[in-house]
Amino acid sequence: MPYNFDDEMIDEIREKNDIVDVISEYVDLTRTGSNYKGICPFHNEKTPSFMVSPNKQIFHCFGCGEGGNVITFIMKHLNMDFVDTLNLLASRVNIDIETKKTKRNKELEDRNKLLFNINKDSAKYFYENLQNNKKALSYIRERGIDESVIKSYGLGYALPDWSGLLEYLLHKGYKIKDIHSLGLIIQRKDKSGYFDRFRDRIIFPIINNRGSVVGFGGRIIEKNGQPKYLNSSDSPIFNKGYNLYGINILKKYARGKDVILVEGYMDVISLYKYGIRSSVASLGTSLTENQVKLIKRYGKDVYLCYDSDEAGKKATNRALEILKKEDVEAKVIVLKDAKDPDEFINKFGLERFYETMSNALPYMDFKIQLYKERHDLNISEGRIDFIKEIVTELKKIKSPVERDVYLDKISKETKVSKDSIKEELKYLPIRNYKDKYINKNNRDNNKDRIKPVINRLEPGYTIAEKNLLYLICKDKNIYESVKTQISPEDFITEEYKKIAERLYEYYENEEFLFKTFEKVLNDNLIGTLENIYNTQINIDASQKNKVLEDFIKTVKIKKLENKKVALKERLKEIDLMDSKSEGDVEKFKSICLQLINIDKELKLHQ
Ligand code: CTP
Ligand code: MN
Repeated sequence: MPYNFDDEMIDEIREKNDIVDVISEYVDLTRTGSNYKGICPFHNEKTPSFMVSPNKQIFHCFGCGEGGNVITFIMKHLNMDFVDTLNLLASRVNIDIETKKTKRNKELEDRNKLLFNINKDSAKYFYENLQNNKKALSYIRERGIDESVIKSYGLGYALPDWSGLLEYLLHKGYKIKDIHSLGLIIQRKDKSGYFDRFRDRIIFPIINNRGSVVGFGGRIIEKNGQPKYLNSSDSPIFNKGYNLYGINILKKYARGKDVILVEGYMDVISLYKYGIRSSVASLGTSLTENQVKLIKRYGKDVYLCYDSDEAGKKATNRALEILKKEDVEAKVIVLKDAKDPDEFINKFGLERFYETMSNALPYMDFKIQLYKERHDLNISEGRIDFIKEIVTELKKIKSPVERDVYLDKISKETKVSKDSIKEELKYLPIRNYKDKYINKNNRDNNKDRIKPVINRLEPGYTIAEKNLLYLICKDKNIYESVKTQISPEDFITEEYKKIAERLYEYYENEEFLFKTFEKVLNDNLIGTLENIYNTQINIDASQKNKVLEDFIKTVKIKKLENKKVALKERLKEIDLMDSKSEGDVEKFKSICLQLINIDKELKLHQ
């Protein structure tokens, strides 16, 4: 069942289910002072150490350490998941969840409709402004954009005044609160009122795949110290990471065609002017997995055509990885003598653009070119570093033939024999994991396990844990330097701890001489490892030590913070007890001491 309880509903369920009433249904409780006591249902005991506090609406067992609120009690005791537990508790106190959900969905739907209308009216307003403004029109014309393109993309203009749009929308009957939630206006610092976000800018409405205006981009007309582009902030109907500029046109006119992924609004528009209707731009942020999913839905092959400067190359490299994660093998269009597709096509025309496109570099060729630029192949050290870097890429290639072709290329570039490079390839223990295991396991049964975790809210420490494991796995030298600083017990996530334990043994017992690491791992951990491989980040060789240090620090700090929380929790419980024995007082003191020590240690890390 999808998870669609909101916080308000959860609060209501928790408040109406008194913890003493609920737990009494499963455990015999007797009153002691202001609390209740009973035999703990979570471990074997003869004398009761299971406490329930009606004031705090929590339970805690001093014997086994279990604790929580009414929801976690049911989850643990009946071994139910969160959603089922909420349903159970709701029906226990006659809360009608279905009606509530329907009502809430209806409210949300109505609200979104209203927000879409505000955006639509704003787009109309900007469009009219442009038609009536000589300065803006002549800028647009100068950039080679004609009336039909203005219409197709709904281009507009925001006047220089401070509240043109605001007044227009208020006049239409919309409320400040709603206009503000779309990021169209900004509240003054002294809270005395609001002003338009977009002023004296060319406006690019951002239209989603369903044809609704979800947000806006705005470009200055002449340099004035303001940022060149401004975009609507994210809103209830606009999430940049889930949208692409131009997706509406692609969907309408170029479904199933090769997609050209570019950086900017003007790139999309200029390509369109020359008849290419299948280009889209990520919205001023680096490409996200959800944007790739969108491309996959409507397009065929993907070509990356970012700016030709250093920043553009870096962005290309990042985008390639994101695409690869979604199983998209994109090619890279390399532009010469122009800074971006907009400039290129205006300068050289459509035919030259297609010609350049037909010479687009496959993933591996792009990587070779990129790494070549990073290292001096005239000196030995540069050649060695180059090979080390490129070999990690080679390992990802599944086809032996393809691999051999690139081995050839790299060997020629570096004048290092193919055999040596092959040796280097063998030494690194990671294989293309996905191919090796997914087919063997039953795909359907293991669906959840195999899926890479795409969690934009993933906490820093698990990212750190995963990357540490990945790096150690990949390189024995890294293991040698890391093992003195962090041990498997330091890992927080249970499964990662297990993998770390195995990985440390693997190196210490020299198992790596005979087998790859995946081979020595038990079945349960394979999915976890795959998840790690899928979510690892790419790290610049020069940054490696710094990054490693950061990861180790992050994990250690989190570990200490967790300890702190647990200790504080215990302090509270002792505090809560009606009568304290001498032992309790001693415990109290010892916990305080431990807390002081942890704080000292934390200071060391900061
Ligand atoms: N961008 C942004 N905020 C900025 C700069 C850029 O959101 N301050 C986004 C815009 O979507 C922009 C894209 O990044 O279209 C590319 O930026 P840039 O290359 O600087 O702009 P161009 O597309 O080349 O714009 P123009 O040709 O109008 O100068
Ligand atoms: Mn550009």
